[in-house]
Amino acid sequence: MSSSDSAHAPIQFAYWVPNVSGGLVISNIPQRTGWDIDYNRRLAQIAERAGFDYALTQIRFTAGYGADNQHESVSFSQALLASTEKLKVIAALLPGPWNPTLAAKQIATISHLHGPRIAVNIVSGWFRGEFKAIGEPWLDHEERYLRSEEFIRCLKGIWQEESFTFAGDFYRFRDYVLKPKPLSPRPEIFQGGSSRAARDMASRVSDWYFTNGNGVEGIRAQVDDIRRKAAQNQHQVKIGVNGFVIARDSEEEAQAVLQEIIDNANPEAVKGFQHEVKNAGSASPEGEGNWAKSTFEDLVQYNDGFKTGLIGTPRQIAGRIVEIKRAGVDLLLLGFLHFQEEVEFFGREVIPLVRELEAKLEPAPATAG
Ligand SMILES: Cc1cc2nc3c(=O)[nH]c(=O)nc-3n(C[C@H](O)[C@H](O)[C@H](O)COP(=O)(O)O)c2cc1C
Repeated sequence: MSSSDSAHAPIQFAYWVPNVSGGLVISNIPQRTGWDIDYNRRLAQIAERAGFDYALTQIRFTAGYGADNQHESVSFSQALLASTEKLKVIAALLPGPWNPTLAAKQIATISHLHGPRIAVNIVSGWFRGEFKAIGEPWLDHEERYLRSEEFIRCLKGIWQEESFTFAGDFYRFRDYVLKPKPLSPRPEIFQGGSSRAARDMASRVSDWYFTNGNGVEGIRAQVDDIRRKAAQNQHQVKIGVNGFVIARDSEEEAQAVLQEIIDNANPEAVKGFQHEVKNAGSASPEGEGNWAKSTFEDLVQYNDGFKTGLIGTPRQIAGRIVEIKRAGVDLLLLGFLHFQEEVEFFGREVIPLVRELEAKLEPAPATAG
């Protein structure tokens, strides 16, 4: 798909699966969000009816930012696929604990069990304490991305080539034949991370680049950088941006909820998180990655989702979404305070306005003949 096709395609929506406890904000504000499977099955069904295209599960091996309980991402994703019909579910994989052999096999089987609706998000690791706790070597920032890039090349090779051979610094394969291959189209490969190393990897190998929340100009700068580099590599990559939605009948009401979330922030957990993420984007040589410039308030939504500005009335939010789309974004990855009810509200009140604005602002290109 060229970038001009992408400008005309409707923007897509994903939601963060709350498969870890504590919701999507590091705050003691009461949340009507559960991390258990019953809550999540129902949420997935609501989301697909509401017009969401994807659900993203998270991978955590130990508690971070107060998220004490975490269900594993691949098995949880499978359960959501089994409870839905159209929703695509993205399972997060962390190179280190996962190797490409197991991941390729596991995901291929899931694609046969549930149809080609499983996708993967390759995450590169930011939480040193977690790696220490599970006895995994902690690589430096650039090496983590070298490993992730090899991981992605191996997944693609194993899934696409009849017989796969690879000699890398981290992984080796000799005439490896995976059977059965995953169903077609092969599982899409997302990646999370915003540093220069992350962007360079996206411009070479990923199908999708996922980044933290940001203002429109910050998003545009990333999009332009990636698209320019991807074009040099004859590669195409789509872009997804995180945002936290607070949609209410009035702007004042929405802003008051934001303030309440921040006023109830759990300061120890936010500061602990702030300390840990120094190992991520700000540790990259150029110091530009995720969280490199985040304030305490930003970090209360742990992927900078407030910065995206999806806070206000449905009409204000829809306008902002179209602005973000015009910066070159293909998908919004969304978090909510009270997931089930707010995902439903978003589908009813916001998505139709987005579609209206898209139709007005971007009339379909004339077809030939
Ligand atoms: C949308 C998104 C989802 C992510 N999901 C996870 C996850 O489930 N588990 C995890 O350990 N890291 C996750 N990450 C973290 C990234 O993989 C990466 O380690 C982090 O963003 C720092 O990358 P950077 O230094 O390139 O900015 C996610 C990041 C983004 C943007």
